[in-house]
Amino acid sequence: MENNEVIKKKIFSGVQPSGKLTIGNYLGSIKNWKEFEESYDCIYCVVDLHAITVRQDPAELRRRTYETLALYIASGLDPEKNTLFVQSHVPAHAELSWVLNCYAMHGELNRMTQFKDKSKKYASNINAGLFTYPVLMASDILLYQTNLVPVGIDQMQHIELTRDIANRFNQVYGETFAIPEGFIPKAGAKVMSLAEPEKKMSKSDTNTNASVYILDNRDDIIRKFKRAVTDSDTVVRRAEGKDGINNLMTIYTAFTGKTDAEIEKEFEGLGYGHFKLAVGETVADALAPVKTEFDRLMADKAYLEGVMKDGSSRASYLARKTLSKVYRKVGFTQPK
Ligand code: TRP
Repeated sequence: MENNEVIKKKIFSGVQPSGKLTIGNYLGSIKNWKEFEESYDCIYCVVDLHAITVRQDPAELRRRTYETLALYIASGLDPEKNTLFVQSHVPAHAELSWVLNCYAMHGELNRMTQFKDKSKKYASNINAGLFTYPVLMASDILLYQTNLVPVGIDQMQHIELTRDIANRFNQVYGETFAIPEGFIPKAGAKVMSLAEPEKKMSKSDTNTNASVYILDNRDDIIRKFKRAVTDSDTVVRRAEGKDGINNLMTIYTAFTGKTDAEIEKEFEGLGYGHFKLAVGETVADALAPVKTEFDRLMADKAYLEGVMKDGSSRASYLARKTLSKVYRKVGFTQPK
């Protein structure tokens, strides 16, 4: 390697191919990833192994896997500059996950709030995979010697656990894994439901006015924003108790870069109806080109399959290096 060649830090993140992605997913993750493209080595995964911790319809899972990859690209991620791949195409994820299961404690997994939440939500299917979900996530991250993991705030506990597992392993066997850090993007870190603004916007909300999906059409987007629940005040300003307006301001900022003060000035004396329409139109305008590109990509399966193949071979190469190191350290033999 040349002396002046800079070793870039690694970024890893993943999205589950389950449910329709909301603008919360978009603003909290994919939209921000483009900016890392030049200064980091970025690896983004469609985490299908994670998705089956909840019962999935096979045909739908397959379709959503293509869709999630298409969405990565439609959101501006260049498959030449970023490694984009599907988790199940790189067997090292499942393999490392088994090993790390033996270095993750039952007690610490039992404390994971996502496990507790999902156990309530899917009470008839509290399978072992749901329980060890964070270990698979730790494997995703640690396989690539990842330095930075951009995630939503709800995933921070899993990142902490990943660090704990990595430190524990390193302590027993010597330096093996880089210790990753979580990173929560500022803009749009938490987008709330439009119908119940004290709750997070969710992929799986049954209220059709609650969540705006990245692939919603223009009329639906505008209609949902027009119906967004607000409060009995009439002034567009950020304040305690104005969850609905605060959320709309967050969304507007995330898409326009405008500050709270600028927004308050822009809508001074104009009332909520006007503001809601402006947010709706802004979001619809911003998502239109994403949707057009998405539709074009989904009509070109061969291209997407090429990206998958290329991405998984690049990812496999890196993952294998870490996995063989781990196998050697724990004392597994190698066939000669
Ligand atoms: N658990 C993450 C979520 O639901 C998805 C995920 C799986 C992930 N593996 C990851 C995110 C590794 C970041 C890094 O949002």
